[in-house]
Amino acid sequence: MNIAVITGASSGMGKEFCSRLFSEKDGSIGAPYDEIWVIARSSDKLQSIAKSLDEKRIRVVPLDLTAPESISALGALLDEKKPAIRLLVNCAGMGKSGAFAEQSVEDTHTAISLNCEALSTVTRVCLPYMTGHDGKRSGTIINIASSAGFLPQPYFAVYAASKSYVISFSRALAEELRSSRITVTCVCPGPVDTDFIKVSKNDPDATFTGIKAKFVTTTDKLIPAAIRAAKKGKTMLVYGFGQKCLHLTSKIVPTNLVLFFERKMK
Ligand SMILES: NC(=O)c1ccc[n+]([C@@H]2O[C@H](COP(=O)([O-])OP(=O)(O)OC[C@H]3O[C@@H](n4cnc5c(N)ncnc54)[C@H](OP(=O)(O)O)[C@@H]3O)[C@@H](O)[C@H]2O)c1
Repeated sequence: MNIAVITGASSGMGKEFCSRLFSEKDGSIGAPYDEIWVIARSSDKLQSIAKSLDEKRIRVVPLDLTAPESISALGALLDEKKPAIRLLVNCAGMGKSGAFAEQSVEDTHTAISLNCEALSTVTRVCLPYMTGHDGKRSGTIINIASSAGFLPQPYFAVYAASKSYVISFSRALAEELRSSRITVTCVCPGPVDTDFIKVSKNDPDATFTGIKAKFVTTTDKLIPAAIRAAKKGKTMLVYGFGQKCLHLTSKIVPTNLVLFFERKMK
């Protein structure tokens, strides 16, 4: 049984991946899939996605990925079904904006646990199931990082640091798996119009403001680009001109100087 696994599938980018991959046929990322396993906490949202697509092909796996027992539960399900995972999309993520000193210990822990630990452990339990028809390793991993991971971000410190982890981890893993037929594509978008900003600001009406508002993109543009990048076996996708400039800046301008200008622009 060929499957795709998508974390964070109940909304935003993960949901868009789900609907796009459902009708995907291009064998280069293992499609068509017999089943797509969708993971998030909101069982009802996942169920409604399954209903709107095909309940036989969408397997709802409601899990809180910050709970260690969820990773064991996913491992047990994989052990029972023994699927061939042709594609893993690590999309689940969150971050709270604001001064670090004013954030709750719980929010700090959740961001690191979900963005770093869960992304790594989900990948770890999925890897043994990434095998082709010939029994050799084969598959595609897409990790959603962020342009926030290029540089330290005061007032979004934990989130930005967690996304630096995702970038570093993804690039190292891509190198480790180079000799197998598993590719790792790390996607670095800027602001995207999803529930992310609402969760980040604890405000159901929140939208991106200031300079970020000028660079907002949508999932219907970003996700096809991410799928194209994965098909080409690209290691990194920095999405959008503004984010490409930021990436270049992070490589050539000393971090102290960037932080100085950020401070002055406030
Ligand atoms: N939107 C942006 O501006 C932006 C920019 C760059 C990168 N990103 C990254 O893109 C990824 C997708 O975010 P999004 O923009 O699509 O935001 P979103 O709409 O808020 O989606 C986040 C997803 O993560 C799931 N999730 C949250 N906590 C979870 C937990 N403890 N266990 C399992 N699943 C959990 C959510 O589902 P439940 O609530 O049902 O659990 C939801 O499906 C994230 O990694 C984010 O950091 C976002």
